[in-house]
Formats: sequence, structure tokens, C-alpha cells
Amino acid sequence: MNENNVESILHEERLFPPSAEFSTKARIPNRAALDSLIQVANKDYVGFWAKQARAELSWHQPFEITLDSTNAPYYQWFNDGELNVSFNCLDRHLKDKGDKIAIIFEGESGDRTTLTYQQLHQRVCRFANVLKAQGITQGDRVVIYLPMVPEAVIAMQACARIGAIHSVVFGGFSAESLKDRIEDTEAKFLITADGGYRGGRIIALKAAADRALKSGCKSIQGVIVLRRTGHSISMITERDLWWHEAETGISSHCDPVWLNAEHPLFLLYTSGSTGKPKGIQHASAGYLLGTITTMKWVFDIRDEDIFWCTADIGWVTGHSYVTYGPLAVGATIVIYEGAPTFPDSGRFWKICQDHGVTVFYTAPTAIRALMKAGDNIPAAYNLSQLRLLGTVGEPINPEAWMWYHRVIGGGHCPIVDTWWQTETGVHMIAPIPGVTTAKPGSCTFPLPGIDIAVVNAQGQPITAPDQGGYLVITKPWPSMIRTIWQDKQRYYDTYWRKFDGKYYLSGDSARRDEEGYFWIMGRTDDILNVAGHRLGTMEIESALLAHPKVAEAAVIGRPDDIKGEAILAYVTLKETCSIGDKALIIELRDWVADQIGAIAKPDEIRFVDNLPKTRSGKIMRRLLRSISRGETITQDTSTLESETILTQLQEKN
Ligand code: WTA
Repeated sequence: MNENNVESILHEERLFPPSAEFSTKARIPNRAALDSLIQVANKDYVGFWAKQARAELSWHQPFEITLDSTNAPYYQWFNDGELNVSFNCLDRHLKDKGDKIAIIFEGESGDRTTLTYQQLHQRVCRFANVLKAQGITQGDRVVIYLPMVPEAVIAMQACARIGAIHSVVFGGFSAESLKDRIEDTEAKFLITADGGYRGGRIIALKAAADRALKSGCKSIQGVIVLRRTGHSISMITERDLWWHEAETGISSHCDPVWLNAEHPLFLLYTSGSTGKPKGIQHASAGYLLGTITTMKWVFDIRDEDIFWCTADIGWVTGHSYVTYGPLAVGATIVIYEGAPTFPDSGRFWKICQDHGVTVFYTAPTAIRALMKAGDNIPAAYNLSQLRLLGTVGEPINPEAWMWYHRVIGGGHCPIVDTWWQTETGVHMIAPIPGVTTAKPGSCTFPLPGIDIAVVNAQGQPITAPDQGGYLVITKPWPSMIRTIWQDKQRYYDTYWRKFDGKYYLSGDSARRDEEGYFWIMGRTDDILNVAGHRLGTMEIESALLAHPKVAEAAVIGRPDDIKGEAILAYVTLKETCSIGDKALIIELRDWVADQIGAIAKPDEIRFVDNLPKTRSGKIMRRLLRSISRGETITQDTSTLESETILTQLQEKN
């Protein structure tokens, strides 16, 4: 277990209770209100969720069965009910909120557009008809590879409307990664764009898509291409269709397809500690319910709020808190296409000011990067509309928390540090902003209806304060992962086997302090958290190994001020290659970027003669971690194949 970040947070004693002003207006205004929710949930969590599902979702066919555990841990929720997610996000608001702005969009170059709920509904319906006209029907998979533009949300919602299962691939992923995902989903259609703007450059999405399709992806029958940048791209007549041309003459009336509550809503690929990325499969009703309850409890969302979650739709945060949750509660959202530092580090704050953002949600890595730019930059903007701030993706270091609170929140905004995962669908551990006293660096307590424990390797709860252990979820919850696409066994092995199907294993380690606050300590498996994104060390290693000159590779994370973790790769080369070749370092870094995407590019590559291995041939990554951090070696090195390797590695430091 990685317990290295415990030190810095262990003695955090600053307390931040919400202000009376915030609490009075909050949806959950005081301890008594929260306790009563928690008590009901504790007494009968199934009944609690049934009540929430009846109150928060619009059902076509009401459900009778709340939780079906027959095939546990392949749990099902509300599975004799029927609804449509897009109907819940759009149609049901039209009567009262048709003219309310749903989306405020700002492109990187400053272009702006807005869509009301009425307009968004029309665009989703029209595009859903386009998909139908292309022969896409319920259960078909559609891969979406788009920049952060309103059409990304429209495409997702249109899929949901007709029961097609979308799988969004982050625009920063390479052709190779796109291909793997298309092939694993066996998608029938790909939706992409000519390009998108990021960091002052054009991201050539269509060109990457062409490369992916050229080398495989036999299931793809057609490609829909959004014109965003207008630069010249090649279109293949038989296969490619412009979005705007496909919409010509198409009706904007499209009845939603009523779907079983358990119908898969989407697949989203995330890194595993072994093998290729896993297609996390989410269902419809339970997932949507979780996005709604957390929008209300954690983001305390109100009708007049302007809500901005900065995550890209390529990540789960962009699914739950851009496309689904905020629209399901009828909120106004901001979507921004580009980089936080374009044209300078004031961009986020300018957007907050210009659009009057009231609730702002971002990642610690962005906060740290913008903090580095100094206090003068945010000081130049009027941020007084902000009333609530959030973070997600990795533990936030107390220093960044304090800066966020003081400089961005003006000392008066509560901060919700939300712990959750692609697999959990929505927030699991997070403060209730009008009630919970925050401690910088802690995600505080599990939400109502969610049962979480820290246990030892035998699965027994750890009762002593500040003792690290496995973070597990002890009861099923509506927005939980249903399975891994096409791999039921891997679902069981990854999340349930360790505790015999009794607990969901998050893969994180955590501790609770004397007052029961949860502190996330890091991952227990070989997953890196680089700039808030999960990357499997395995994936990066296999990318390196695919290079003709590489013999062996071991990838580890080392602490990084901005990114949380930086990627360090130890590489041994095939005999004919010379060590210390600078050009080769560049070549290998670019190679990984090509194979996986720029986010996976190693920050540093060290060539070595040998990697430390156990006698059974397993690379000792933990040992490499200690060496790279210059720590004294406390691990047992007696199993090491050869002790001289150690000396050589230490010299390389
Ligand atoms: C980490 C992102 C500490 C954690 C929603 C988890 C966090 C992984 C927090 C999931 C937080 C996420 N504090 N760590 N508030 N939020 N993590 O699937 O290690 O991209 O297991 O989902 O990010 O990453 P994922």
C-alpha cells in the first residue's frame, strides 16, 4: 500500500464549518435534517432508495422490485420499471423550464452560444432521428470521440433517447486507444469532429479516427463528423457523413424509447491494474438517480445556479456532472472547450466571472497549476457569485485546499471534496455543504444510503483511528457498476473476489481519524493518478514493450507538485541499442503518446541494464518507487535476483 502521503495530512487540525448564511438556504440545512435522512437509510437502505427513486425519477412504468440480489454481486435496481434517461433530463422540464438556459458554451477562441432546454431538446431529438436513420437501434454501441462542445452532450443524450449504448473516448486519447475501445465495444457507429481547439492548437480528431479505422474496427458501419474547426480533412464517401448534412430535412420530433431500468446507459473505459482497459458498464435508472441525489445533496443545486464542472465528457465526471446530473435536475451548465491556461492562467476565473458561475467543480491538479500562477491572476476577476466549490480526482493537499478556499472562494464558499470512481458512478464520500464541518484534505463522510468501511486484509473493520486499510463499500447502491463489458469474470475478480463477494473493493486505501472523517491515502494497486486521471502502469509498460528497441519496462509514479503523480519509466533495451541515447528517450516518450495518448507520456525515462526482479521473475515496482524517491530501502531485498542491480539503480538516481 502506498502510505506516503499520510505524513503531510496527519496533523491537519483546521476546521471549516459552513457559514450560517450558507446553511440557512441549503437544501439540507442542518444536522437534524441530515441525521434524519441517514437514520432512515440506516434502518432500511433498500426502502430509502425506493423512496428516492419514486420521488426523483419520472417513470413510464413504475417499479415494484427495488433491489434484486439474486445474482449478487451482479446487482440490479428497480428492474421491473421502465423509463428513459433523456426524457428525465429534457422532456420533463419543458413545461416549466422550456426557456431556461440549459447550456452556456464557450469555445477556446471565445465564441459563445447558449441553448435553452427547448432548443436542446429539439437538437437531441433531431440527432436521435439521424442515428435512427442510420440504422442504429436499441442496444447498439456508438463510440463518441468529440471535443468539449454542446454536440458532445447532444450525442450522448440522443443515444440515451433511443437506447443506444454510448462509449465516450476522451479526445486526448490516440488512434490506437480509440481503436481498442471501438473493437472492445464492437461499436456500429463513430461520432467525431474534424477537430477541436485546445491550448491554441487544433486537435485533429478526424485524422486520428481515420487511423484507428484503417487498422481495424470492422464493426463500424459509418462515421458522423461534426464540423467544428473547418480545417480540411478527408471524408470517405461511403463511410463518412457530415453531422449538419445528415440533419437536413430530419424532424426534431422523436419519442423516447422506454427502456428497462437496467438497460445499459453507457460503457466507459478505465484503467485496470492488469491487462487492457475495462469497459465499465452502467445502467439507466440507478445511475441517473445517483446523479440527481448528489446534485442536490452535495452541490446543493438551486434553480438559479450556474453550474460549471470543468471535466471533459471523456471522463466519468463529465458524464455524471455535465451530461446527466445537472440536466436531470434542470440546472444551467457551463461548457468550456479549451485548456485552463489559454490564453493565460486566468481563463477559468474569467469564465466564472463572465457567466456568473455559482457552483464550480474541478480537479486538484488544475487548482495546483492555477495556484502556481499566483494570487494576482484570480484577483483580477470578480468571483463574488461563487457560493460553492468542489474537487474530485485525487486527494487535495491542504495547501491547495486553503488557496482554493481563500483566493477563489473568498473565504466564504464551502468546499466539497468528493470521493468516487468511474465504477461508483457518482459521489460516495463527500461533505453535505450546509452541515459538514470540512477538514482540508478529507472527503469527510459517506453520503446517506452509502455504507463504506476501512477494513484489514481479513475484511475486519479497522476501529483504531488513523490506521490505514482497504476502502470498501459494504452495501450495493443504485449507481454502481453493473459489470465489465463482455467480462463478467473480470468484474468479480477485480471488485469482489478479495472479500468473497461481501464487499466492493475500491482499490483505494484510506484511514479514519478520531472523529470518523475519511482520508484517502492512495491506491493499493498498480494504478497511477496523473493529473486526476487513472492510468494503469501495465498499459504504459505494454506500450513501451511494443517498441522494437525495448526489452523490458517498469513504470512507477513519483510525487509531482502539479500533476499529483509523474510517470517514471525504467527501461532496458535490446542488445543492439546503446544506452543513454537522448534521441531515443524522445522517441519513446512520443511513442507512448501515440499508443495511448499524451496524458500517458512518461515524464522521465531511465535506461538501466537490468530491472530488479524477484526470483520468480516479478518486477519489484515497490522497490523502484523507493529508489526513485531516494528513500532508504526497507523492503525485503532477499528475494532479489541480483543485489548488484540495486547499486546500479541507486547510482542512476
Ligand atoms: C481517486 C474519478 C482522493 C481515487 C471520479 C479513486 C480521489 C480514483 C478523489 C477514481 C478524492 C477520486 N480524494 N482520491 N476526492 N476522487 N479519487 O475512476 O483513487 O477516474 O479510486 O473517477 O481517483 O478515478 P476515476
